[in-house]
Amino acid sequence: MKKILSKIDNHCISLRFIETDDAAFLMELNNNLEIAKCVVGNPRQVTLQEQMCWMKKVATEEKTKRFIIEYDGEPVGTVIISSIDLSNLTANVNIKLHSSARGKGIGKRSIKLALEYCFDVLRIYCVTAHVLSFNKASLALFESCGFIKEGVLRSRVIKNNERCDLISFSITREDFNN
Ligand SMILES: CC(C)(COP(=O)(O)OP(=O)(O)OC[C@H]1O[C@@H](n2cnc3c(N)ncnc32)[C@H](O)[C@@H]1OP(=O)(O)O)[C@@H](O)C(=O)NCCC(=O)NCCS
Repeated sequence: MKKILSKIDNHCISLRFIETDDAAFLMELNNNLEIAKCVVGNPRQVTLQEQMCWMKKVATEEKTKRFIIEYDGEPVGTVIISSIDLSNLTANVNIKLHSSARGKGIGKRSIKLALEYCFDVLRIYCVTAHVLSFNKASLALFESCGFIKEGVLRSRVIKNNERCDLISFSITREDFNN
């Protein structure tokens, strides 16, 4: 698959599948403590070697598509489409952006590109997203992309040693096209 492209002003935003050469960048994102506080999982710090082993392991995954977000050709983040269920035509999406790339509309454009991939290429019907209740940037991002808040999964995850609510969002093909 070629890159999926979009433009903001004169800048180019694109998604492409992760490659072996992305190991150092992915390690940096994974080990970033500020990002780790905002995401649903609890990533542990990894070495470059561990990162490369992990990349070999995920290379054969079938239910997950991992993309690098590029801004004018430079990697700035990731979008991951996971839990791809081709029986029910559902999937889940999440995103991480390096702090230097935030506040420019890159997150919104990247989620929209990922949704186009889900609806047009994978022929998915409904895409979900799960956001920690205190993550204002991510809540605003998914609402701004047209996701509908479905509910609160109470105390569903342990984050930073405390139980935390998870906000569940979804968007259907019709929502996206209207
Ligand atoms: C969440 C994240 C991807 C947002 O990316 P971004 O490129 O800065 O977001 P955008 O510039 O595209 O903004 C999208 C919308 O969210 C709003 N927004 C972005 N950051 C915000 C913040 N800190 N507070 C409130 N609203 C915010 C913008 O105003 C915009 O709204 P609009 O379309 O109505 O104008 C980014 O902050 C990030 O990577 N955070 C760390 C990892 C993370 O939390 N991932 C999500 C896990 S579920």
